[in-house]
Order: sequence, then C-alpha cells, then structure tokens
Amino acid sequence: PQGPVPLSEHTLPFSLAHGQRLLPPEPLLQLEDYRAWGGLALLKAMAEGRLSGERVLEGVEEAGLLGRGGAAFPAARKMRQVAQAPGEKYLVVNADESEPGNFKDRFLLEHNPFLVLEGALLAAKAVGAGRVWLYVRWEFQAALRRLEAAIRALEEAGLLLLPTEVFPSGGLYICGEETALLESMEGRRAEPRLKPPYPVEKGLFGRPTLVNNVETLASLPVLLREGQAWRREEPKLFSISGDVERPGLYELPLGTPLGEALRRAGGEPEALLAVLLGGAAGVFVRDFSLPLKYRGPRPIGAGAVVAYNRERDLFQVMEGLAAFFAQESCGKCFPCALGTQVQLSLVQRRSRDEGLLRDLEATLRGSLCGLGQSAYWAYKSLLEVEGAR
Ligand code: NAI
Ligand code: SF4
Repeated sequence: PQGPVPLSEHTLPFSLAHGQRLLPPEPLLQLEDYRAWGGLALLKAMAEGRLSGERVLEGVEEAGLLGRGGAAFPAARKMRQVAQAPGEKYLVVNADESEPGNFKDRFLLEHNPFLVLEGALLAAKAVGAGRVWLYVRWEFQAALRRLEAAIRALEEAGLLLLPTEVFPSGGLYICGEETALLESMEGRRAEPRLKPPYPVEKGLFGRPTLVNNVETLASLPVLLREGQAWRREEPKLFSISGDVERPGLYELPLGTPLGEALRRAGGEPEALLAVLLGGAAGVFVRDFSLPLKYRGPRPIGAGAVVAYNRERDLFQVMEGLAAFFAQESCGKCFPCALGTQVQLSLVQRRSRDEGLLRDLEATLRGSLCGLGQSAYWAYKSLLEVEGAR
C-alpha cells in the first residue's frame, strides 16, 4: 500500500483552515509558546483546584466525543467506567499509530506534544488514574524526543500532575490493538486478549485502565475550552495522501463530503478511480458525495483517505494490503493466521470466485481481534467498486 506521505510545509495553511484547533501553524515545542497559543489554562486550573475531574467528564459527555483511534466508541462511557472503578488505575495513551495511510497521531506528537500531554493529564485526573504511560511507536523518534522534552518542561513548571512516562512500542502493527499493547507493556508477546473483559475493567497489570488514542486526548482541552463551538463543527483530523496535489493532514468537520476533502488537498474527484477510506482496515469507495462520518455503511476509521487516479491498478494496491495483513497477523488464532494467507493468494490470482470469497469472509469474521475481522473489507469493497465501473 502507499504508506504515509511525508508532510510538506504547504499542507499547513490548509490544515489551519478550520480554526487551528489541534494544529498550530508552527510546531509548539516550548512551554511558553504553548501557553501563548492558549494552552495550559485547564491544566493550571486543575492543579489549583478550580477545575474538577467531574467537570472534565461532563464536558466530554456534553461534547459526545467519539474515540479517534478508529472504532468511535463513546469516550465518556469509557472514562466513566474507569472513574467508577475502585483502587489503583492507569491511563495509557495509544500512540502506536500503524494503520497504512494514517499519520495524524505522529504529527500531533511531533507538532503539539503539550496538547497531547495536557489532554492526557486532564483525563487521567478525571478518572482517578495514578500514572500515565504514553505507548509510542518506536519508529517515531522525533515524537519520542519531543514528548520526553515536553514532560520534563511540565515537570519543571510544576504542572505534571501525575507520574508520566513514555514507553516505546515493540514495533508491530498488532501492538496498536489495545490488549496486545497491554500484553507487551507487561513484558509478554504482543497478542490480543479476549474481550470482554475490556481494559476499563481489567487492563494493565489487571487494573482498570483507560486506553485512549492520541487525537482523542488532544481533543479534550479544545472541546472543554470551546464547548458549543466544538460540538457544532466536531473537528476531526484526516490524513489525505495518494494522488492529490497537496497530501497532508487536514482538520475538517465530521460530515464533510469526501469530494470536498479531496479538493482541499488538491485532488480532483473526477480524475480519481477510487479512494481507500480508513487505511488497510478500511474500504475502497467511489461515491465522492459520501459524508466523512463514523457511522453509516462507509465509516472513516481513524481518518485515512488515500486517493488513486485512473492509472492505478487497484488489484495491485490490494495485493499490498493483503500482503500487509498476512505479514502482520500475530498468529494467535487460526481464522486470521490462515485466512490472511488465503486472501493473499486469492488476490494474487485476482479471484472473483463467489464461493471461495464467501468462505474467506466467514473465516476472517471469526477472528479474535479487529485485525483479522477487518482484513477482508478492502477486498470485498474492491470487487464492488470494480463491479460498478
Ligand atoms: P473495539 O470496538 O473493540 O473497541 C473500541 C474501544 O472501546 C476500546 O478501547 C474498547 O476497550 C472499548 N470498548 C468497546 N466496548 C466496550 C464496552 N462494552 N465497555 C467498555 N469499553 C468498551 O475496537 P478496537 O479493536 O479497539 O479498534 C478497532 C479499530 O481500530 C478499527 O475500527 C480500526 O479503524 C482502528 N485501527 C486503528 C489503527 C491506527 O493506527 N490508528 C490501526 C488498526 C486499527
Ligand atoms: Fe492475531 Fe489475527 Fe487473531 Fe488478531 S485476528 S489475534 S492479529 S491472529
């Protein structure tokens, strides 16, 4: 698959078109710059007892924030469950962004690390967590360095409200699955656990744990500050890449039509064959009037939009995706371990055999975790898109 495209400078003015909420014009790497941008006020209010954890939870509830990692689970529901759990509990920031086509979390960590930390600390205090870990994909070396520096700066300013540390990930796609992530933090092989129990009940070292995506937490200070304005627009980051003139990260309101998002990135929907929406675990679409939303037949996942022009061979693209799944399957359950290999061979043969494909879909659907369960979506949607041409 076409991987993340390096972010070039000309993407920034576009990403700022909708209010500079998460993405300032320049990287904010000094505490004073972050403060001047409007940051830190909530963290300070919490440190001084002027902002309660309950108010944070209410703010997230009122905003109706949906988790930005891809699954769109209501953020407040998870937070409430952890807040209500007794005893020692934790917050883990899932910064193991590995979905092909997604680069929003890396960009946030590199560009606005204090915002991520402020959101994480507010959430952790709100749920009564005793420690914060940032589980960061180890290849994100710049993000790791900038986070460490930001943690030190907050500590020196007396605003690191809880012990907070960075945990470089094991470097596999499956490490981003929250329970595999927890396994790896506990020193075991990164293999998903059976859910339930969910991490909110039994997470890191068996304790209730709030595991949230980077963008989810970075949204917290902004939605608490903006209230109604945030709710009206519901800003979301979209990683737009592929055959567009200005690939990059764009902050757009949820519900923006796909065609408009593409045009912002310098793409011409009329010249495109299809878009892969949501990354490898996503679907090919050709309906450019489609609103970019979480719910509906074509959900956005974590917000990857990869455009393919009419010269592209989508089966070749699909071969890359199928090879990716076959390689990244952790091997714990056979429907996925076997199914992803079978899928690869079917894609290589460009199979449209309905019986075989039905079997493949049923097999993969029986997989233990999201990796196997979503591995067939792209192939299925490719056949629909090709059939409609
Ligand atoms: P999921 O739907 O199982 O869970 C989503 C979140 O809600 C999890 O934190 C889970 O613990 C929580 N949850 C679900 N039901 C719950 C309940 N009844 N009580 C309490 N908590 C509950 O989805 P999963 O497997 O965590 O994530 C799948 C998504 O991840 C896919 O939709 C895909 O888009 C995305 N993804 C993102 C990647 C990235 O790099 N950002 C990489 C791969 C997949
Ligand atoms: Fe591992 Fe795939 Fe099974 Fe998930 S579905 S546990 S990645 S083998």
